[in-house]
Amino acid sequence: MNMFSQVAEQYDTLNHMFSLWGDLRWRKASARLLNFSEDDHVLDFGCGTGDFTFALRKHSALYITAIDLSPEMLDLMKKKTDNDTSNWLELMAADGEDLPFDENTFDGAVAGFVGRNLLDLHQGLSEIHRVVKPDGRIGFLEFCKPDNGLMRVVSWLYFRLVVAPFGNLFMGKSVPAYRYLIDTIEAFYSTGEMRSFLSGAGFRHVYTVYFNFGTVALTVGTK
Ligand SMILES: C[S@@+](CC[C@H](N)C(=O)[O-])C[C@H]1O[C@@H](n2cnc3c(N)ncnc32)[C@H](O)[C@@H]1O
Repeated sequence: MNMFSQVAEQYDTLNHMFSLWGDLRWRKASARLLNFSEDDHVLDFGCGTGDFTFALRKHSALYITAIDLSPEMLDLMKKKTDNDTSNWLELMAADGEDLPFDENTFDGAVAGFVGRNLLDLHQGLSEIHRVVKPDGRIGFLEFCKPDNGLMRVVSWLYFRLVVAPFGNLFMGKSVPAYRYLIDTIEAFYSTGEMRSFLSGAGFRHVYTVYFNFGTVALTVGTK
């Protein structure tokens, strides 16, 4: 079972709590910055419980295809949509490293906090590049290794001393997803690395927008 399937029920609460509800602000700000046009068809890659999709849709009347490996996360996303969404939302269980779409399908794509969960990030980015149309934009939102040394220490301590123990306490057991998050903090990418990954996948005009004192970054690129 995908480890996110095991934490699906608590995912939103813990995310909002540990980020002091910042995660919602970062997705909202990202949606504003990406500024997709009405009628664009956008892919939410690794949508989880859908918060990036909802932020995008709030900003503009898009058609969104949201995919995730975990059916449990998709079920929770469905529960969060009370109205009929069939005219703007398509949900699909799919592997982001082998997307079931033709090339040049989407006007743009977003991926929120998915990068480090992929077995092969480069394969995921290359798949996004394949299915996005020429001139389409991608927004890749992730925790990152802050450029500032002091923030690197603060961020490391926060994940080690707050997120890991309280994540486990809150769940009543040792949770692989949070253990995994902690284990991979050291492996957070720098913003320079994230830009080079997007460039390596073929995206142009790659740049970074920083959130939360440089601990979270939106990397934007154009196909
Ligand atoms: C940390 S969550 C982020 C969810 C959401 N994007 C957000 O902003 O909250 C990572 C998600 O990526 C999904 N995921 C991991 N590997 C995947 C893959 N190969 N293809 C599609 N989704 C994947 C997980 O199931 C999980 O829902």
